[in-house]
Amino acid sequence: MFNIFKKRSIKINEQLKLDMDNIPKHIAIIMDGNGRWAKEKNLPRSMGHKAGVETIRCIVKECNKLGVKYLTLYAFSTENWKRPKEEINTLMGLLIQYLRNEFNELHENGVVINHIGDITKLPLSCQKELISAYEKTKNNTGVTMNLALNYGGRDEIVYAVNSLIKDFSEKGILKQPIDEKTFNKYLYTKDMPDPDLIIRPSGEQRISNFLLWQCAYSEFWYSNIYWPDFGVKDLHKAIADYQMRDRRFGRVK
Ligand code: FPP
Repeated sequence: MFNIFKKRSIKINEQLKLDMDNIPKHIAIIMDGNGRWAKEKNLPRSMGHKAGVETIRCIVKECNKLGVKYLTLYAFSTENWKRPKEEINTLMGLLIQYLRNEFNELHENGVVINHIGDITKLPLSCQKELISAYEKTKNNTGVTMNLALNYGGRDEIVYAVNSLIKDFSEKGILKQPIDEKTFNKYLYTKDMPDPDLIIRPSGEQRISNFLLWQCAYSEFWYSNIYWPDFGVKDLHKAIADYQMRDRRFGRVK
């Protein structure tokens, strides 16, 4: 007889098996280590970022295949404006190139190309490309890729507070006290589940102003691998590790 309770799992290799019924709905990644990767190879930092784009391609594809619903990639923080102008230009150029080169494949695979963060501060060409990619893919049903651009967790919270005040005063309502559910609706990530798993490669173990509100109960996974070397097998390792965690959300078992 067909067992409806049978676990669906895929065997990655002798050591690794993924439970397909427990794939994180939302994975967020701090793509770190591009610069160090390049330095170790005596290459300019721009080459590290370029190699980092290749990793994005593989990871988005694999997340989509595994049935991850949201993948948030920290591509440019509110603090990254402090980098040399040349590096900022390289990153913006890579963003446009990525959106143009990868659009067809992403669209065909049902990926929603979304962004979070205050993109009004990005060059106009980037804004146009991002908005157009979103408009064309918003009805897709595959993974939603959130490119976090000019994103900062603190900035997002302040933005949410200001939007909420504006909205409430325009509607002439003063609903007090504000609860978490209402506040959530004013974040860039409204309508999305909080990240289940946050991955940070490159050996650093800090949150760096990423998804500060949303990470309250996220599981963290760190690795020493630089982002350009991060591969599908590392993603599988992170997910397998996540699947062994006991998520209690403050409750007792
Ligand atoms: C951190 O590495 C990485 C970034 C600040 C940028 C991430 C960007 C990409 C992967 C490519 C461009 C993005 C898109 C969406 C096309 P780092 O430079 O801080 O590395 P380091 O700590 O080793 O110096």
